[in-house]
Amino acid sequence: MTSPRILLIVSGGIAAYKSLELVRLLKRDGIAVRAVLTKAGAEFVTPLSLGALTEDHVYSDMFDLKDEREIGHIQLSRQADLVVICPASADILAKMAAGMADDLATTILLATDKPVFVVPAMNVRMWDHAATRRNIRQLISDGIIVMEPDEGDMACGEWGKGRLPDPEAIAGEIRRLLGSARDDVITMPPARLLADSSGPLSGKHVLVTAGPTHEPIDPVRYIANRSSGKQGFAIARAAAEAGARVTLVSGPVDQPTPRGVTRIDVQTAREMLSAVESALPADAAIMVAAVADWRVEQAAGQKLKKDGSGAPAPLSLTENPDILATLAISAQRPKLLVGFAAETEHVVEHAQAKLARKGCDMIVANDVSGGVMGGERNRVHLVSADRVESWDEAAKEIVADRLIARISDRLQDQA
Ligand code: C5P
Repeated sequence: MTSPRILLIVSGGIAAYKSLELVRLLKRDGIAVRAVLTKAGAEFVTPLSLGALTEDHVYSDMFDLKDEREIGHIQLSRQADLVVICPASADILAKMAAGMADDLATTILLATDKPVFVVPAMNVRMWDHAATRRNIRQLISDGIIVMEPDEGDMACGEWGKGRLPDPEAIAGEIRRLLGSARDDVITMPPARLLADSSGPLSGKHVLVTAGPTHEPIDPVRYIANRSSGKQGFAIARAAAEAGARVTLVSGPVDQPTPRGVTRIDVQTAREMLSAVESALPADAAIMVAAVADWRVEQAAGQKLKKDGSGAPAPLSLTENPDILATLAISAQRPKLLVGFAAETEHVVEHAQAKLARKGCDMIVANDVSGGVMGGERNRVHLVSADRVESWDEAAKEIVADRLIARISDRLQDQA
């Protein structure tokens, strides 16, 4: 597996020196870092120190013929898994919000097709200024992921919000965004990312699981199911558009990450459970993943061979943890816990039984007797303790919007 790659843009500000520590921590975690230094950033850190730590060339000039010939600003914006701006000055945030591209950093930001994570740092008055507030709202609604600054003493002698968070906390968020969760991420505090303050789910954290899980049999085979991840990804998209901070824990699927959603990729049910637990607390959890019920007790280290005798495969299966049921009895149980049920007959009756068995608040039951798995449309029944709502068949995107509207109402009623 290739190591995850970050493109780090260092803009101007007294906190720029902390970007050096950030690079060191990311490199320690096996993350490759390539740096872009803005003109103002270069007033605070030198290309030499940044280059020594990244062990790479530092890019700063849009019109550097050699850089342009060798890699080019478009390539630079596409080669990373994640673009990080740390520190992000009020000036670069304003340029991004306006869609300006007047230097290498802003051109990269406009040309990139990768998620962008900004870590603002500035004086408290600049952070509180109506223009910066407006720019941050714009960036969030554009799908940019924004980390909330710390509060404390400022270099200028004032006190308030605007300090760059601790580099360890920033590195933790980056690892989380890259989905390269190492064990110690589990102990990290939950993300402090800012969300759209105007939507019905603003200020809420919504956790979604999606896709299948792959349970290895040997290095080349696995147990899986036909889930495409479409419905779960649509729900994550709808929740983010409603202003929630969304963590999407996904099994192996071929779906683009919705804008503004933090995605954690996993393979197995046990990895999914651990990613879900480390993403808590959450206000609502919507478990859409089609988790494999069983895994092979002991996956083989080498490819299994048939011996030609016609004997049954030497597979001993064991049950996987039930993520939904585990969450229902967890000390950090989300206020609203929603499960999915794929049924081929007696859809509502089975969903009612599942609601009780799994200890969740709502089951979205879908009839998979038709072509729902991998298809574009879905026909669902919303089953809760006191009522059943049956919806007309609709595109999965529409089902997602309606479901998120229901979830927003329920969370508001509970507030
Ligand atoms: O029991 P069944 O697989 O039909 O339950 C479906 C619901 O339970 C879905 O919401 C699914 O995401 C969740 N589930 C889970 N962990 C499992 C199995 C199912 O979270 N191991």
